[in-house]
Amino acid sequence: MRNFGSLLVGVVVLAFMIGSPSSWSAAKNDWPMEDFEPDLTNLPSLQNGFKLYANYCLGCHGLQYQRYGRTADDLGVPRELALESVVFTGQKIGELITTSMDPDQAKSWFGATPPDLTLEARLRSPEWIYNYLKTFYVDDSRPLGVNNGVYPNVGMPNVLLSLQGVQRYDKENGKLLVEEGSGSMNAEEFDAAIYDLSNFLYYVGEPSRLERQRLGIYVLLFLVILGTFTFLLNREFEKDVH
Ligand code: HEC
Repeated sequence: MRNFGSLLVGVVVLAFMIGSPSSWSAAKNDWPMEDFEPDLTNLPSLQNGFKLYANYCLGCHGLQYQRYGRTADDLGVPRELALESVVFTGQKIGELITTSMDPDQAKSWFGATPPDLTLEARLRSPEWIYNYLKTFYVDDSRPLGVNNGVYPNVGMPNVLLSLQGVQRYDKENGKLLVEEGSGSMNAEEFDAAIYDLSNFLYYVGEPSRLERQRLGIYVLLFLVILGTFTFLLNREFEKDVH
């Protein structure tokens, strides 16, 4: 009976341990998320994401586990072209994609150090990144005059302002509205750019996934061919048996 008692205590403790993450998420922000489906077969999207990343993000966020060369190879970009169009740091193509931002300085400027984003899509989710990048809005009560729907009181400046334009939050209707003509992209173009950026960060989170997907197709083809021959061979054997 005593054993049963301690078992019961064990089960209750376990239930609490398993249950606690969901009680944390209750405290999480419940901003309505737009769907996001990554697509690793879309190389032009990944290439554009890489370029946008180098232009708008790398100044603050490194991808310290990822090399320029491998990224170029994976995304089907010739290495010389990659050197010209995405390596602005004077680094070599074989080097890791690091940022030159000094973490201490960044902390004093933004109140937070911009984290490395190599594993961000796995830490949050590609969907989270997509929504995060789309929901910066004007908020004069914040030090940088900007807030974020998905990440309230974020320390990151709105670095895509010139592309998206001025976005405001209409509290009454719970909607974000962009002032027309205030950015260099229209809503569709901006969505596509953010899609590509998020898709790229999804790739970076697990680069071998792309290779696996490509390999998977060959494996399936091989199985189909093997299966056909096995079937034919089996039919020959059956003939001899009867
Ligand atoms: C001027 C510097 C700067 C630039 C440029 C910048 N960021 Fe940030 N970013 C920050 C800072 C600072 C934070 C930390 C904010 C915080 O924790 O409050 C941050 C946070 C983030 C986060 C959330 C990290 C987390 O806590 O999970 C993501 C995702 C992100 N940035 C993506 C991007 C992307 C994508 C770009 C390019 C379009 C970009 N950032 C450009 C400074 C920058």
